[in-house]
Amino acid sequence: MKVGVFDSGIGGLTVVKSLLQHQLFEELIYFGDTARVPYGIKDKNTIIRYAIEAVEFFKNFELDLIIVACNTVSAYALAEMRESATCPVIGVVESGALATSNTLHDKTSDILIIGTKATVNSKAYERELNALGFKNLQAKATGLFVPLVEEEIYNGAILEATLNHYFHDTKTPHALILGCTHFPLISDALQNYFGKDVLLIHSGDAIVEYLEKIFTFHTRYPEPILQFFASENPEALRAIAKKWLHI
Ligand code: DGL
Repeated sequence: MKVGVFDSGIGGLTVVKSLLQHQLFEELIYFGDTARVPYGIKDKNTIIRYAIEAVEFFKNFELDLIIVACNTVSAYALAEMRESATCPVIGVVESGALATSNTLHDKTSDILIIGTKATVNSKAYERELNALGFKNLQAKATGLFVPLVEEEIYNGAILEATLNHYFHDTKTPHALILGCTHFPLISDALQNYFGKDVLLIHSGDAIVEYLEKIFTFHTRYPEPILQFFASENPEALRAIAKKWLHI
């Protein structure tokens, strides 16, 4: 299968990392809209417009599947992307909610969703989790983590201060949904902050679990063909991809 992975910028590489670890695809084409990131502070119509443009870009490649790594786009634009795409389009919100439900069997568990302002305002995770029977949900926009990760700040005083800023009055949840592409890169800091018993849900692992459920992968591809595109400064994206993905 030939897959396209779309994100607003570089963050979706965390999802690519999980896809590569599981060797699911023969060919992977990544597109990051680095010229227009961040999407998480934009409004619904803008996010949908950009997402449809990404679908148009992917039409150059005859893909079998598009994976939307970006939580913000997954929360707002999946239906519109599906309408204009010529292949299936899947996002990370449904798979993240399903992965939570597959591990967390007590429906009264406290779940904290963190993401961009747009993702949190969309209530997309709440809709999916409610449908799966979960009621004790809290969501918090934690957008400052995005530039910190882009600055490669994964620990230390600034990150600690930001964690305290957002969570000092937050009750420790049973599960924490990392509802933003960048957050897996600070998962150690989040796990330390909340404690080792808190279940962390990572979009990349969740989408792999979901893909393995809906498709049958007969072959594994340890050396897939990879191509990285960006709407601005593709060299920078490729350099980060090399660093994060060890390719
Ligand atoms: N990729 C976005 C997400 O997962 C985070 C960065 C942005 O705001 O565009 O929601």
